Amino acid sequence: MRISDRVGTMKYAIRDVQKIANDLQKQGKEIMYFNIGDPNKFDFNVPEAMQDALRHHTNKGFYSQSEGDLYVRQKIADYEDSKYRNGVSSNDVIFTDGVSEGILFVFLSFLNPGDKILVPAPTYPAYQSAGTVTQAELTVYKCIEEEGWIPDVEDIRSKIDSKTKILVLINPNNPTGSVYHEQRLRKIRDLAGEHDLVIISDEIYDRMILDQETSYKSFSQITKDVPAIIFNGFSKNYLAPGFRAGYMYTLDLENKISEPYEGVKKLCRMRLSPSTPISYAAVDTLSMNPPHLPNLIGKLKSRRNYVTKRFQDMDNISTTKPQAAFYIFPKIEMINLNFSNDFELVMGLLKEEGVLFVHGSGFGVPDHFRMVFLSPENILEEGLNRFERFLERHSS
Ligand SMILES: Cc1ncc(COP(=O)(O)O)c(C=O)c1O
Repeated sequence: MRISDRVGTMKYAIRDVQKIANDLQKQGKEIMYFNIGDPNKFDFNVPEAMQDALRHHTNKGFYSQSEGDLYVRQKIADYEDSKYRNGVSSNDVIFTDGVSEGILFVFLSFLNPGDKILVPAPTYPAYQSAGTVTQAELTVYKCIEEEGWIPDVEDIRSKIDSKTKILVLINPNNPTGSVYHEQRLRKIRDLAGEHDLVIISDEIYDRMILDQETSYKSFSQITKDVPAIIFNGFSKNYLAPGFRAGYMYTLDLENKISEPYEGVKKLCRMRLSPSTPISYAAVDTLSMNPPHLPNLIGKLKSRRNYVTKRFQDMDNISTTKPQAAFYIFPKIEMINLNFSNDFELVMGLLKEEGVLFVHGSGFGVPDHFRMVFLSPENILEEGLNRFERFLERHSS
């Protein structure tokens, strides 16, 4: 029997390269993993308060409401409203097994095969995968590297047609670490309004802004009458990706998307319930003004500064400085290196030096790569020394 076309053609670059590295490791090669954004693999752990809360809720073995119990949704609504004063209510919130589940459910309920969805280039690969599985037509819009990877509004405009239904923003962004300023968000909102588009704003890194002077606006603060769905969760800000805890909420003043949003709840019913103890434990920590954040931001900032400087000093590499999260997305002068594309280069680096990055084409932008800078500095240093050595060996 053959795998279905929908799944057979699906790609997910981050885990795909991981498999190749794991196979090499089994053959005895030592690998330095800079590909997966899981803080628990490094010197970070789930906040104590969240662990305590989970112990407290272990007796909740019952199914909760499919979209999350009212207790859970109310706490999320209160938290989002206190952060952004966006008036969100518990009815607007759906709790999911991570944002990943939410992405798939929204694609399934909002898009018919052939409908168009606009995603940024570079993009987080789950959006590409969900597009393939649901047979939606994915169109990428440009983000301008020279201006810190902000979305190119004219490019977005030129790609909208009658089949375009949704526009995705990832802000703060994975893989570039960029943060979009308010002006740009307003322009995108106006464009979405003109063409009756729904905005999905993935804000899973919104507490990980690295510099005080970077001002951040959630799309929920400026959406007005443009219907929007905001994604957020506990995998990054709360250092708990293995909890599989995420949520979405909608802002839909004119009830333009209430029907497909109900469809998302219907899909939640199909999988019965999120994990009840996890959902209660997760939201109990929301009101604590996360005590782990200052330490986390301090470490990430110095690691960001270190990797940025190293890449900026390397021949044949250039990079913008990430403003948030823990990813950097440098550019490679492929013309000066004896590889035909970024995937070949990343694989060469893995085989020769045991260093794993993800190729930029996996995020929709060739001639780049993504590095996760969650590791302590001595490990970053060793990885980058190996990378530099590798580049010198292969430059023409
Ligand atoms: C932009 C973005 N959205 C969503 C996710 C998925 O998060 P979750 O663990 O909540 O499924 C990630 C994970 O890396 C991400 O970077």
